[in-house]
Amino acid sequence: MANAVFVAPFLLPATVRFIAAAALLPDVRLGLISQDPEERLRDDLRAALSGHYRVTDGTDAQQIADATRVMARHLGSVDSLLGMLEQLQVPLGEVRDALGIKGMGAEVARNFRDKARMKTVFEANGVPCARHRLVHSAVEARAAAAALGYPLVAKPPAGAGARSTFRLDGDHQLAAWLDADGPGDASPVLLEQMVIGAEHSFDSVVIDGELIWHSISRYLPTPLEVLENPWVQWAVILPRDISGAEYDPIRHDGLRGLRALGLRTGLTHMEWFRRPGGDIAISEVAARPPGAQFTSLLSYAHDVDMYAAWARLEIFGEFSPPERQYAVGAAYLRGQGSGSVVAIHGLDTLQHELGDLVVEAHLPVQGQSPSGTYEGEGHVILRHPETSVVEAGLRRVVEVARVELGEVS
Ligand SMILES: Nc1ncnc2c1ncn2[C@@H]1O[C@H](COP(=O)(O)OP(=O)(O)O)[C@@H](O)[C@H]1O
Ligand SMILES: [Mg+2]
Repeated sequence: MANAVFVAPFLLPATVRFIAAAALLPDVRLGLISQDPEERLRDDLRAALSGHYRVTDGTDAQQIADATRVMARHLGSVDSLLGMLEQLQVPLGEVRDALGIKGMGAEVARNFRDKARMKTVFEANGVPCARHRLVHSAVEARAAAAALGYPLVAKPPAGAGARSTFRLDGDHQLAAWLDADGPGDASPVLLEQMVIGAEHSFDSVVIDGELIWHSISRYLPTPLEVLENPWVQWAVILPRDISGAEYDPIRHDGLRGLRALGLRTGLTHMEWFRRPGGDIAISEVAARPPGAQFTSLLSYAHDVDMYAAWARLEIFGEFSPPERQYAVGAAYLRGQGSGSVVAIHGLDTLQHELGDLVVEAHLPVQGQSPSGTYEGEGHVILRHPETSVVEAGLRRVVEVARVELGEVS
Protein backbone atom coordinates (compact mmCIF):
# COMPACT_ATOMS: atom_id res chain seq x y z
CA MET A 1 0.00 0.00 0.00
CA ALA A 2 1.33 3.45 -0.95
CA ASN A 3 0.24 6.73 0.58
CA ALA A 4 0.15 9.54 -1.97
CA VAL A 5 -0.96 13.16 -1.91
CA PHE A 6 -2.30 14.95 -4.97
CA VAL A 7 -2.10 18.75 -5.10
CA ALA A 8 -4.67 20.47 -7.31
CA PRO A 9 -5.54 24.11 -6.54
CA PHE A 10 -8.70 24.04 -8.65
CA LEU A 11 -10.90 21.03 -9.27
CA LEU A 12 -11.47 21.61 -12.98
CA PRO A 13 -12.76 18.70 -15.11
CA ALA A 14 -9.37 18.12 -16.81
CA THR A 15 -7.61 18.02 -13.42
CA VAL A 16 -10.25 15.78 -11.87
CA ARG A 17 -9.54 13.10 -14.50
CA PHE A 18 -5.96 12.83 -13.18
CA ILE A 19 -7.09 12.89 -9.53
CA ALA A 20 -9.67 10.17 -10.18
CA ALA A 21 -7.11 7.99 -11.95
CA ALA A 22 -4.76 8.21 -8.95
CA ALA A 23 -7.52 7.74 -6.36
CA LEU A 24 -8.89 4.62 -8.06
CA LEU A 25 -5.52 2.83 -8.39
CA PRO A 26 -5.37 -0.37 -6.37
CA ASP A 27 -2.96 -0.29 -3.42
CA VAL A 28 -3.04 3.52 -3.19
CA ARG A 29 -4.42 5.67 -0.42
CA LEU A 30 -4.75 9.16 -1.84
CA GLY A 31 -5.07 12.45 0.02
CA LEU A 32 -6.03 15.64 -1.81
CA ILE A 33 -4.85 19.19 -1.16
CA SER A 34 -6.90 21.84 -2.95
CA GLN A 35 -8.13 25.40 -2.81
CA ASP A 36 -11.55 24.42 -4.09
CA PRO A 37 -13.89 22.72 -1.57
CA GLU A 38 -14.08 18.94 -1.66
CA GLU A 39 -17.81 19.26 -2.39
CA ARG A 40 -16.86 20.06 -6.00
CA LEU A 41 -15.99 16.38 -6.50
CA ARG A 42 -18.44 13.66 -7.46
CA ASP A 43 -19.57 11.49 -4.55
CA ASP A 44 -17.78 8.33 -5.74
CA LEU A 45 -14.50 10.21 -6.04
CA ARG A 46 -14.89 11.82 -2.61
CA ALA A 47 -15.52 8.38 -1.19
CA ALA A 48 -12.34 7.08 -2.86
CA LEU A 49 -10.14 9.75 -1.20
CA SER A 50 -8.44 9.00 2.09
CA GLY A 51 -8.34 12.63 3.15
CA HIS A 52 -8.74 16.19 2.00
CA TYR A 53 -7.05 19.37 3.16
CA ARG A 54 -8.14 22.79 1.98
CA VAL A 55 -5.59 25.60 1.56
CA THR A 56 -6.01 29.26 0.57
CA ASP A 57 -3.19 29.16 -2.01
CA GLY A 58 -2.71 25.79 -3.67
CA THR A 59 0.58 26.78 -5.31
CA ASP A 60 2.26 28.04 -2.11
CA ALA A 61 5.05 25.66 -1.07
CA GLN A 62 4.67 26.48 2.65
CA GLN A 63 0.94 25.76 2.63
CA ILE A 64 1.46 22.56 0.64
CA ALA A 65 4.19 21.45 3.08
CA ASP A 66 1.99 22.16 6.13
CA ALA A 67 -0.95 20.32 4.58
CA THR A 68 1.27 17.39 3.58
CA ARG A 69 2.54 17.08 7.17
CA VAL A 70 -1.06 16.93 8.42
CA MET A 71 -1.79 14.31 5.76
CA ALA A 72 1.29 12.29 6.80
CA ARG A 73 0.04 12.16 10.40
CA HIS A 74 -3.38 11.09 9.16
CA LEU A 75 -2.18 8.43 6.67
CA GLY A 76 0.89 7.31 8.62
CA SER A 77 3.28 8.56 5.90
CA VAL A 78 3.34 10.35 2.54
CA ASP A 79 5.35 8.32 0.02
CA SER A 80 4.71 10.49 -3.03
CA LEU A 81 3.45 13.95 -3.83
CA LEU A 82 1.99 14.60 -7.25
CA GLY A 83 0.34 17.31 -9.31
CA MET A 84 0.03 17.97 -13.02
CA LEU A 85 -0.21 21.76 -13.15
CA GLU A 86 2.82 23.48 -14.71
CA GLN A 87 2.91 26.20 -12.02
CA LEU A 88 3.06 23.54 -9.28
CA GLN A 89 6.20 21.76 -10.38
CA VAL A 90 8.70 23.95 -8.51
CA PRO A 91 6.65 24.23 -5.26
CA LEU A 92 6.10 20.44 -5.32
CA GLY A 93 9.86 19.96 -5.74
CA GLU A 94 10.51 22.27 -2.79
CA VAL A 95 8.11 20.34 -0.59
CA ARG A 96 9.60 16.97 -1.62
CA ASP A 97 13.05 18.33 -0.75
CA ALA A 98 11.87 19.72 2.61
CA LEU A 99 9.98 16.59 3.66
CA GLY A 100 12.29 13.98 2.14
CA ILE A 101 9.69 12.64 -0.31
CA LYS A 102 11.01 10.79 -3.38
CA GLY A 103 10.57 12.31 -6.84
CA MET A 104 11.72 15.41 -8.69
CA GLY A 105 13.33 18.04 -6.45
CA ALA A 106 13.21 21.82 -6.83
CA GLU A 107 16.54 22.18 -8.67
CA VAL A 108 15.47 19.88 -11.47
CA ALA A 109 11.96 21.35 -11.53
CA ARG A 110 13.46 24.83 -12.05
CA ASN A 111 15.38 23.55 -15.09
CA PHE A 112 12.05 22.62 -16.64
CA ARG A 113 10.07 25.64 -15.48
CA ASP A 114 12.51 28.43 -16.40
CA LYS A 115 13.01 28.37 -20.16
CA ALA A 116 16.13 30.55 -20.09
CA ARG A 117 17.75 28.13 -17.62
CA MET A 118 16.57 25.18 -19.72
CA LYS A 119 18.17 26.58 -22.89
CA THR A 120 21.40 27.35 -21.03
CA VAL A 121 21.56 23.71 -19.85
CA PHE A 122 20.82 22.50 -23.39
CA GLU A 123 23.56 24.68 -24.90
CA ALA A 124 26.09 23.61 -22.28
CA ASN A 125 25.35 19.96 -23.16
CA GLY A 126 25.25 20.34 -26.93
CA VAL A 127 21.50 19.66 -27.17
CA PRO A 128 20.27 21.42 -30.34
CA CYS A 129 18.02 24.42 -29.61
CA ALA A 130 17.42 28.02 -30.69
CA ARG A 131 19.98 30.56 -29.47
CA HIS A 132 18.51 32.77 -26.78
CA ARG A 133 19.01 35.71 -24.44
CA LEU A 134 17.09 36.71 -21.35
CA VAL A 135 16.64 40.51 -21.48
CA HIS A 136 15.64 42.93 -18.71
CA SER A 137 15.50 46.25 -20.61
CA ALA A 138 15.06 47.84 -24.03
CA VAL A 139 18.83 48.30 -24.28
CA GLU A 140 19.45 44.60 -23.64
CA ALA A 141 16.67 43.69 -26.07
CA ARG A 142 18.24 45.75 -28.89
CA ALA A 143 21.66 44.26 -28.20
CA ALA A 144 20.15 40.74 -28.24
CA ALA A 145 18.37 41.44 -31.54
CA ALA A 146 21.65 42.62 -33.06
CA ALA A 147 23.47 39.51 -31.82
CA LEU A 148 20.79 36.92 -32.63
CA GLY A 149 19.28 38.43 -35.81
CA TYR A 150 15.66 38.40 -37.01
CA PRO A 151 13.16 36.80 -37.03
CA LEU A 152 12.95 36.51 -33.24
CA VAL A 153 10.38 35.11 -30.86
CA ALA A 154 9.71 37.02 -27.62
CA LYS A 155 8.10 35.12 -24.76
CA PRO A 156 7.90 35.02 -20.94
CA PRO A 157 10.56 32.74 -19.39
CA ALA A 158 7.87 30.82 -17.48
CA GLY A 159 4.92 31.06 -19.86
CA ALA A 160 2.37 28.48 -20.92
CA GLY A 161 -0.27 28.21 -23.62
CA ALA A 162 1.75 30.48 -25.95
CA ARG A 163 0.51 33.53 -24.02
CA SER A 164 2.42 36.82 -24.53
CA THR A 165 4.44 35.13 -27.27
CA PHE A 166 5.26 37.25 -30.32
CA ARG A 167 7.19 36.97 -33.54
CA LEU A 168 9.42 39.98 -34.25
CA ASP A 169 10.54 40.40 -37.87
CA GLY A 170 12.61 43.58 -37.70
CA ASP A 171 13.59 46.75 -35.83
CA HIS A 172 10.15 48.35 -36.32
CA GLN A 173 8.36 45.43 -34.72
CA LEU A 174 10.95 45.29 -31.95
CA ALA A 175 10.35 48.99 -31.20
CA ALA A 176 6.57 48.57 -31.21
CA TRP A 177 6.84 45.52 -28.94
CA LEU A 178 9.21 47.37 -26.56
CA ASP A 179 6.62 50.19 -26.28
CA ALA A 180 3.69 47.89 -25.67
CA ASP A 181 5.04 44.86 -23.86
CA GLY A 182 8.75 45.38 -23.28
CA PRO A 183 10.85 43.73 -20.56
CA GLY A 184 11.69 45.17 -17.13
CA ASP A 185 13.94 44.21 -14.21
CA ALA A 186 11.08 42.34 -12.57
CA SER A 187 9.65 41.01 -15.84
CA PRO A 188 12.49 39.74 -18.03
CA VAL A 189 11.63 38.39 -21.46
CA LEU A 190 13.22 35.57 -23.38
CA LEU A 191 14.27 36.44 -26.93
CA GLU A 192 15.00 33.46 -29.16
CA GLN A 193 16.03 33.01 -32.74
CA MET A 194 12.91 31.91 -34.54
CA VAL A 195 13.16 28.34 -35.76
CA ILE A 196 11.48 27.81 -39.12
CA GLY A 197 10.22 24.28 -39.50
CA ALA A 198 7.58 21.69 -38.70
CA GLU A 199 6.66 21.64 -35.01
CA HIS A 200 6.29 18.30 -33.22
CA SER A 201 6.00 16.90 -29.73
CA PHE A 202 7.97 14.12 -28.07
CA ASP A 203 6.12 12.72 -25.08
CA SER A 204 8.13 10.21 -23.16
CA VAL A 205 8.54 8.13 -20.05
CA VAL A 206 11.95 7.91 -18.45
CA ILE A 207 12.69 5.60 -15.50
CA ASP A 208 16.04 5.91 -13.71
CA GLY A 209 17.35 7.95 -16.65
CA GLU A 210 16.42 5.35 -19.32
CA LEU A 211 13.91 5.95 -22.11
CA ILE A 212 11.11 3.42 -21.54
CA TRP A 213 8.52 4.67 -24.01
CA HIS A 214 7.77 7.62 -26.27
CA SER A 215 5.17 9.12 -28.57
CA ILE A 216 5.64 11.63 -31.39
CA SER A 217 3.06 14.00 -32.80
CA ARG A 218 2.98 16.81 -35.32
CA TYR A 219 1.17 20.16 -35.13
CA LEU A 220 -0.56 21.44 -38.27
CA PRO A 221 0.22 24.37 -38.39
CA THR A 222 2.39 25.55 -35.44
CA PRO A 223 0.85 27.02 -32.26
CA LEU A 224 2.41 30.42 -32.97
CA GLU A 225 0.82 30.63 -36.42
CA VAL A 226 -2.45 29.62 -34.82
CA LEU A 227 -2.15 32.35 -32.22
CA GLU A 228 -1.30 35.00 -34.79
CA ASN A 229 -4.55 34.23 -36.64
CA PRO A 230 -7.45 34.07 -34.18
CA TRP A 231 -9.65 32.18 -36.61
CA VAL A 232 -7.20 29.53 -37.74
CA GLN A 233 -8.40 26.05 -36.87
CA TRP A 234 -5.62 23.58 -36.34
CA ALA A 235 -4.87 19.98 -35.63
CA VAL A 236 -2.35 17.69 -34.03
CA ILE A 237 -1.69 14.20 -35.36
CA LEU A 238 -0.08 11.17 -33.74
CA PRO A 239 1.08 9.01 -36.67
CA ARG A 240 0.63 5.30 -36.10
CA ASP A 241 4.17 4.36 -37.06
CA ILE A 242 6.93 6.39 -35.43
CA SER A 243 9.64 3.76 -35.74
CA GLY A 244 11.33 5.37 -38.78
CA ALA A 245 14.89 6.66 -38.86
CA GLU A 246 13.58 10.21 -39.39
CA TYR A 247 12.70 10.20 -35.69
CA ASP A 248 16.07 8.88 -34.47
CA PRO A 249 17.46 12.41 -33.89
CA ILE A 250 14.64 13.37 -31.50
CA ARG A 251 14.84 10.03 -29.69
CA HIS A 252 18.55 10.61 -29.19
CA ASP A 253 18.66 14.35 -28.48
CA GLY A 254 15.35 14.33 -26.61
CA LEU A 255 16.70 11.82 -24.10
CA ARG A 256 20.01 13.67 -23.86
CA GLY A 257 18.08 16.88 -23.13
CA LEU A 258 16.01 15.23 -20.40
CA ARG A 259 19.11 13.75 -18.78
CA ALA A 260 20.92 17.11 -18.96
CA LEU A 261 18.01 18.76 -17.14
CA GLY A 262 18.36 16.14 -14.41
CA LEU A 263 15.23 14.06 -14.93
CA ARG A 264 15.47 10.61 -13.36
CA THR A 265 11.90 9.32 -13.59
CA GLY A 266 8.81 10.90 -15.10
CA LEU A 267 6.44 11.53 -17.99
CA THR A 268 7.42 14.66 -19.92
CA HIS A 269 6.04 16.66 -22.83
CA MET A 270 8.68 18.07 -25.17
CA GLU A 271 8.22 20.31 -28.22
CA TRP A 272 10.67 20.31 -31.13
CA PHE A 273 11.08 21.47 -34.69
CA ARG A 274 12.35 19.82 -37.83
CA ARG A 275 14.02 22.41 -40.01
CA PRO A 276 13.63 22.19 -43.81
CA GLY A 277 17.21 20.83 -44.05
CA GLY A 278 16.25 17.94 -41.74
CA ASP A 279 18.10 18.83 -38.55
CA ILE A 280 16.11 19.35 -35.37
CA ALA A 281 15.86 21.95 -32.60
CA ILE A 282 14.30 21.27 -29.21
CA SER A 283 11.96 24.06 -28.20
CA GLU A 284 10.84 23.34 -24.65
CA VAL A 285 9.87 20.55 -22.30
CA ALA A 286 7.50 20.27 -19.36
CA ALA A 287 8.00 17.75 -16.55
CA ARG A 288 4.34 16.81 -16.35
CA PRO A 289 1.70 15.12 -18.48
CA PRO A 290 0.67 17.20 -21.50
CA GLY A 291 -2.49 19.30 -21.55
CA ALA A 292 -4.82 20.15 -24.42
CA GLN A 293 -6.47 16.75 -24.56
CA PHE A 294 -3.05 15.28 -25.28
CA THR A 295 -3.26 12.75 -22.48
CA SER A 296 -6.55 11.58 -24.00
CA LEU A 297 -4.92 11.39 -27.46
CA LEU A 298 -2.17 9.20 -26.01
CA SER A 299 -4.83 6.99 -24.42
CA TYR A 300 -6.77 6.60 -27.69
CA ALA A 301 -3.63 5.89 -29.74
CA HIS A 302 -2.51 3.07 -27.44
CA ASP A 303 -5.85 1.82 -26.15
CA VAL A 304 -4.76 2.38 -22.56
CA ASP A 305 -5.66 4.79 -19.76
CA MET A 306 -2.70 7.19 -19.79
CA TYR A 307 -4.14 9.09 -16.84
CA ALA A 308 -3.84 5.99 -14.68
CA ALA A 309 -0.49 5.05 -16.25
CA TRP A 310 0.93 8.47 -15.29
CA ALA A 311 -0.36 8.13 -11.72
CA ARG A 312 1.21 4.65 -11.41
CA LEU A 313 4.50 6.00 -12.71
CA GLU A 314 4.47 8.85 -10.19
CA ILE A 315 3.48 6.69 -7.24
CA PHE A 316 5.20 3.36 -7.95
CA GLY A 317 7.88 4.32 -10.51
CA GLU A 318 6.43 1.67 -12.84
CA PHE A 319 5.21 1.90 -16.42
CA SER A 320 4.25 -0.84 -18.90
CA PRO A 321 5.07 0.59 -22.33
CA PRO A 322 1.94 0.30 -24.48
CA GLU A 323 2.04 -0.46 -28.23
CA ARG A 324 0.67 2.14 -30.62
CA GLN A 325 -2.55 0.67 -32.04
CA TYR A 326 -3.92 3.57 -34.07
CA ALA A 327 -3.19 6.91 -35.65
CA VAL A 328 -5.07 9.59 -33.72
CA GLY A 329 -5.54 13.31 -34.10
CA ALA A 330 -7.48 16.24 -32.73
CA ALA A 331 -8.88 19.17 -34.66
CA TYR A 332 -9.49 22.35 -32.67
CA LEU A 333 -12.57 24.40 -33.51
CA ARG A 334 -12.12 28.14 -33.13
CA GLY A 335 -14.75 30.84 -33.38
CA GLN A 336 -14.65 33.31 -36.25
CA GLY A 337 -15.82 36.88 -35.68
CA SER A 338 -16.53 38.44 -32.30
CA GLY A 339 -19.13 37.82 -29.62
CA SER A 340 -20.41 34.43 -28.47
CA VAL A 341 -21.03 31.21 -30.37
CA VAL A 342 -24.19 31.63 -32.50
CA ALA A 343 -23.89 28.61 -34.81
CA ILE A 344 -21.63 25.77 -35.92
CA HIS A 345 -21.70 25.06 -39.63
CA GLY A 346 -20.66 21.94 -41.50
CA LEU A 347 -21.36 19.35 -38.83
CA ASP A 348 -23.83 17.36 -40.93
CA THR A 349 -21.33 17.05 -43.78
CA LEU A 350 -18.59 16.00 -41.37
CA GLN A 351 -20.81 13.52 -39.57
CA HIS A 352 -21.67 11.94 -42.91
CA GLU A 353 -18.06 11.80 -44.15
CA LEU A 354 -16.15 11.07 -40.95
CA GLY A 355 -18.66 9.88 -38.37
CA ASP A 356 -17.00 6.45 -38.15
CA LEU A 357 -13.64 7.95 -37.21
CA VAL A 358 -14.83 10.15 -34.35
CA VAL A 359 -13.95 8.84 -30.89
CA GLU A 360 -14.54 12.07 -28.98
CA ALA A 361 -16.32 15.30 -29.83
CA HIS A 362 -16.59 18.31 -27.61
CA LEU A 363 -18.65 20.69 -29.71
CA PRO A 364 -19.13 24.37 -28.97
CA VAL A 365 -22.63 25.25 -27.73
CA GLN A 366 -24.72 28.27 -28.57
CA GLY A 367 -24.06 31.21 -26.28
CA GLN A 368 -20.62 29.94 -25.20
CA SER A 369 -18.00 32.71 -24.88
CA PRO A 370 -14.70 32.30 -26.73
CA SER A 371 -11.92 30.65 -24.70
CA GLY A 372 -9.34 33.19 -25.84
CA THR A 373 -6.78 30.38 -26.18
CA TYR A 374 -5.50 28.35 -29.10
CA GLU A 375 -7.56 25.41 -27.91
CA GLY A 376 -10.59 27.32 -29.14
CA GLU A 377 -14.20 26.53 -28.45
CA GLY A 378 -14.24 22.77 -28.97
CA HIS A 379 -12.45 19.80 -30.46
CA VAL A 380 -12.99 16.58 -32.36
CA ILE A 381 -10.75 13.51 -31.98
CA LEU A 382 -10.41 11.03 -34.87
CA ARG A 383 -8.89 7.56 -34.82
CA HIS A 384 -8.08 4.95 -37.48
CA PRO A 385 -5.36 2.34 -38.03
CA GLU A 386 -4.04 4.30 -41.04
CA THR A 387 -2.31 7.62 -40.54
CA SER A 388 -3.32 8.98 -43.96
CA VAL A 389 -7.01 8.46 -43.13
CA VAL A 390 -6.73 10.44 -39.90
CA GLU A 391 -4.68 13.17 -41.55
CA ALA A 392 -7.18 13.62 -44.39
CA GLY A 393 -10.05 13.58 -41.88
CA LEU A 394 -8.45 16.29 -39.74
CA ARG A 395 -7.95 18.48 -42.81
CA ARG A 396 -11.63 18.08 -43.65
CA VAL A 397 -12.72 19.05 -40.13
CA VAL A 398 -10.50 22.13 -40.18
CA GLU A 399 -11.81 23.13 -43.64
CA VAL A 400 -15.47 22.39 -43.21
CA ALA A 401 -16.37 23.15 -39.58
CA ARG A 402 -17.02 26.82 -38.95
CA VAL A 403 -17.86 28.22 -35.54
CA GLU A 404 -19.70 31.50 -36.07
CA LEU A 405 -19.41 34.13 -33.35
CA GLY A 406 -21.82 37.04 -33.08
CA GLU A 407 -24.58 38.64 -31.02
CA VAL A 408 -26.78 36.00 -29.45
CA SER A 409 -30.38 37.25 -29.58
N1 LIG B 1 12.34 29.88 -31.02
C1 LIG B 1 11.16 29.66 -31.59
N2 LIG B 1 11.06 29.51 -32.93
C2 LIG B 1 9.87 29.31 -33.55
N3 LIG B 1 8.70 29.26 -32.88
C3 LIG B 1 8.72 29.40 -31.55
C4 LIG B 1 9.94 29.60 -30.82
N4 LIG B 1 9.63 29.71 -29.51
C5 LIG B 1 8.29 29.59 -29.43
N5 LIG B 1 7.74 29.40 -30.65
C6 LIG B 1 6.32 29.22 -30.97
O1 LIG B 1 5.53 29.70 -29.89
C7 LIG B 1 4.78 28.63 -29.29
C8 LIG B 1 4.74 28.81 -27.77
O2 LIG B 1 6.07 28.83 -27.26
P1 LIG B 1 6.54 27.80 -26.17
O3 LIG B 1 7.98 28.05 -25.90
O4 LIG B 1 6.15 26.42 -26.58
O5 LIG B 1 5.74 28.27 -24.89
P2 LIG B 1 4.46 27.72 -24.10
O6 LIG B 1 4.99 27.27 -22.78
O7 LIG B 1 3.60 28.93 -23.99
O8 LIG B 1 3.88 26.58 -24.88
C9 LIG B 1 5.47 27.38 -29.76
O9 LIG B 1 4.59 26.27 -29.77
C10 LIG B 1 5.97 27.76 -31.14
O10 LIG B 1 4.94 27.64 -32.11
MG1 LIG C 1 4.84 25.06 -25.75
